[in-house]
Amino acid sequence: MKCLGKRRGRAAAFLPLCWLFLKVLQPGHSHLYNNCYAGDKVIRFIPKTEEEVYALKKISHQLKVDLWQPSSISYVSEGTVTDVHIPQNGSRALLAFLQEANIHYKILIEDLQKTLEKGSNLQTQRNRRSLSGYNYEVYHSLEEIQNWMHHLNKTHSGLIHMFSIGRSYEGRSLFILKLGRRSRLKRAVWIDCGIHAREWIGPAFCQWFVKEALLTHKSDPAMRKMLNHLYFYIMPVFNVDGYHFSWTNDRFWRKTRSRNSRFRCRGVDANRNWKVKWCDEGASMHPCDDTYCGPFPESEPEVKAVANFLRKHRKHIRAYLSFHAYAQMLLYPYSYKYATIPNFSCVESAAFKAVNALQSVYGVRYRYGPASTTLYVSSGSSMDWAYKNGIPYAFAFELRDTGHFGFLLPEMLIKPTCTETMLAVKNITMHLLKKCP
Ligand SMILES: *[C@@H]1O[C@H](CO)[C@@H](O)[C@H](O)[C@H]1NC(C)=O
Ligand SMILES: *[C@@H]1O[C@H](CO)[C@@H](O)[C@H](O)[C@H]1NC(C)=O
Ligand SMILES: *[C@@H]1O[C@H](CO)[C@@H](O)[C@H](O)[C@H]1NC(C)=O
Ligand SMILES: *[C@@H]1O[C@H](CO)[C@@H](O)[C@H](O)[C@H]1NC(C)=O
Ligand SMILES: [Zn+2]
Repeated sequence: MKCLGKRRGRAAAFLPLCWLFLKVLQPGHSHLYNNCYAGDKVIRFIPKTEEEVYALKKISHQLKVDLWQPSSISYVSEGTVTDVHIPQNGSRALLAFLQEANIHYKILIEDLQKTLEKGSNLQTQRNRRSLSGYNYEVYHSLEEIQNWMHHLNKTHSGLIHMFSIGRSYEGRSLFILKLGRRSRLKRAVWIDCGIHAREWIGPAFCQWFVKEALLTHKSDPAMRKMLNHLYFYIMPVFNVDGYHFSWTNDRFWRKTRSRNSRFRCRGVDANRNWKVKWCDEGASMHPCDDTYCGPFPESEPEVKAVANFLRKHRKHIRAYLSFHAYAQMLLYPYSYKYATIPNFSCVESAAFKAVNALQSVYGVRYRYGPASTTLYVSSGSSMDWAYKNGIPYAFAFELRDTGHFGFLLPEMLIKPTCTETMLAVKNITMHLLKKCP
């Protein structure tokens, strides 16, 4: 067996414990993920007619491709930009099919394994601990991120308090950093990263945000104001089990890791599991799908823990910000329907200013708007849930890029991506502090 049979539910139990050591010791790290993506490709096509859509859905199903964009084949219709990761043994068949059907396609990634190895920079020192010495320009494993949190909790106790809001399906702690100058009765902003495991730039941004806050709050009046007037609840890795799995077994894992009683496929889409139009349009009832909504709302312990926390603190929490990748978009409610939210203009102008602030750094353009019309309709999302539960500013960021590297955004691009995103987040936060309803 070449690869893990990963998203098809076969247990990947053969993975040796020495895996992580192997990864570090191999200088060329050709054993990264057991060389399991060798020859895999990522291609992009845009079906033009209904017939093409139908044919594509059929063959995608047969070949069991891994959709990168959009997140489910059910979203593909005429004109949809579609990025798919095709396994090495299926690529001949699919490419032949596309040529025969005269569907134009573009190869985004020729050999996924090679791109994966180029993009990762395991030589760098990941574990240096001091704040200024810590390397924020590499992706960090879950363990490293949790060690970093513990470290900040010890060394920055005046501004940071770390606590757990529960445990994941596999028993890992769900840690939050509460950031801000101590004071009673402050309003708050919630930030989560890594709801979807493979979107590694998310957790990297959460870490970056905390670093920037700690480094600049003395010199930057805007940051000082933010930390004086608000608490930030930051959850660097929401889907801890999935994130861990994406480091050890399947780089392109998206969901949680919960088991299903009737199917061998594991995991639920933690961004379809919320009690807001749960499992309606844009979510799947099939446990093997990447957009599986779960057996019932809040079935995932990670979702339930965060929902409980937000319910408990909703009076104080003014904004909910969730970080995803990739698409370069800033989205606000609704996801589940085509309708504008009440008091739309305040949220809209916050988004408009934020994407302009972002663009001012390197010229990178973000689209913005209601998620339903800007990305696609999806029910049961955290953003809609937060909004419906009384958090007036709810946003989801889809960070870089637009498909050139997709989920394999190279570590070299962590810094520019986070630098520009930081400006957008600060801009939204400053907007909150003004009197917009
Ligand atoms: C590709 O390989 C996988 C397992 O390695 C197998 O399950 C699948 O049927 C193969 N697909 C094709 C089209 O041969
Ligand atoms: C963070 O530090 C405080 C003491 O400063 C401690 O009480 C708390 O348990 C720490 N949090 C975690 C998760 O270890
Ligand atoms: C927010 O961004 C806009 C540009 O889009 C800028 O004019 C404004 O000054 C920024 N506000 C803050 C507080 O950074
Ligand atoms: C809209 O704004 C008004 C005035 O500030 C406020 O009273 C109302 O609660 C807001 N509605 C929603 C749905 O946020
Ligand atoms: Zn996502």
